[in-house]
Amino acid sequence: MKVLIATEKPFARKAVDGITEILKAAEYEVVLLEKYTDKGELLEAVADVDALIVRSDKVTKEVLDAAKNLKIVVRAGAGFDNVDCEEAKKRGIVVMNTPGQNSNAVAELAACFMIYMSRNQLTSGTGHEIQGKTLAIHAYGNVGKLVGRKGKALGMNVIAFDPFITDKAVFEADGVECVESIEELYSRADFLSLHIPATPQTKGSIGYDLAMSMPKGATLVNTARKEVIDEAGLAKAMEEREDLKYISDIAPDTAAEMAEKFGKRFFATPKKMGAETAEANINAGLAAARQIVDYFVNGNTRFQVNK
Ligand code: 3PG
Repeated sequence: MKVLIATEKPFARKAVDGITEILKAAEYEVVLLEKYTDKGELLEAVADVDALIVRSDKVTKEVLDAAKNLKIVVRAGAGFDNVDCEEAKKRGIVVMNTPGQNSNAVAELAACFMIYMSRNQLTSGTGHEIQGKTLAIHAYGNVGKLVGRKGKALGMNVIAFDPFITDKAVFEADGVECVESIEELYSRADFLSLHIPATPQTKGSIGYDLAMSMPKGATLVNTARKEVIDEAGLAKAMEEREDLKYISDIAPDTAAEMAEKFGKRFFATPKKMGAETAEANINAGLAAARQIVDYFVNGNTRFQVNK
């Protein structure tokens, strides 16, 4: 078996070593393609591999067409919107993610973002504390839950909404208030932490109306996906409301305009930083390697996302 690790944004060295060790112990050949700048390099590298490990690297129809022997793609991370799952399914290629493995890193960044924006991006001027403020969590999955836990540790009042979790006991078990609707969630959010995936239903779903409904001085914290934001709608709300703030892990398409218009009320990371910790890289990378071996040896498809 030949396994390609294709990471435009590389894993920490220790993670690469760990992945390689697991795959070599199974007597697989390991090929590493890091920091590639040209799609052609990926197309060439996938040509003869049986398995592929990626991060946010785009696994498009074109990549799948070029990968004649490919049997499994593991996205070492949570969101798999970068993989064309339908095209993979048509070809009988299994797509998996590694849910939960990098969640803590993302949740820590969300906590950092709240404080960073409350302290004027660490520039001069009087800021605010986050203790006693309401932290609203949109989608209560692996990351949302951990953000809630960190918010509570910081003395915040944590509320949440998840369209797919109807059992209030899930929230109550964590001492989190489950609210009835998205509208209520945003209208009570001093900080709104987004954890929805990018799907056809969610893309562009957070915009003007929800932003306008947020309390005075509110901050929208996006460690999910830039695509879930209706950028024009949010910008309009931020123009009309000089108290609203937006911080995003990965720059919106209109980042330059937003930076110019909104100054310290806006911040975006140039590259996605949420899972950029050695711990997250090791957890997600090693899980990906183990899942590949478990699939080839035992046929385990527990983490398959394109069934
Ligand atoms: C994820 O979906 O797991 C995160 O967005 C991390 O993405 P990354 O591996 O590209 O940093």
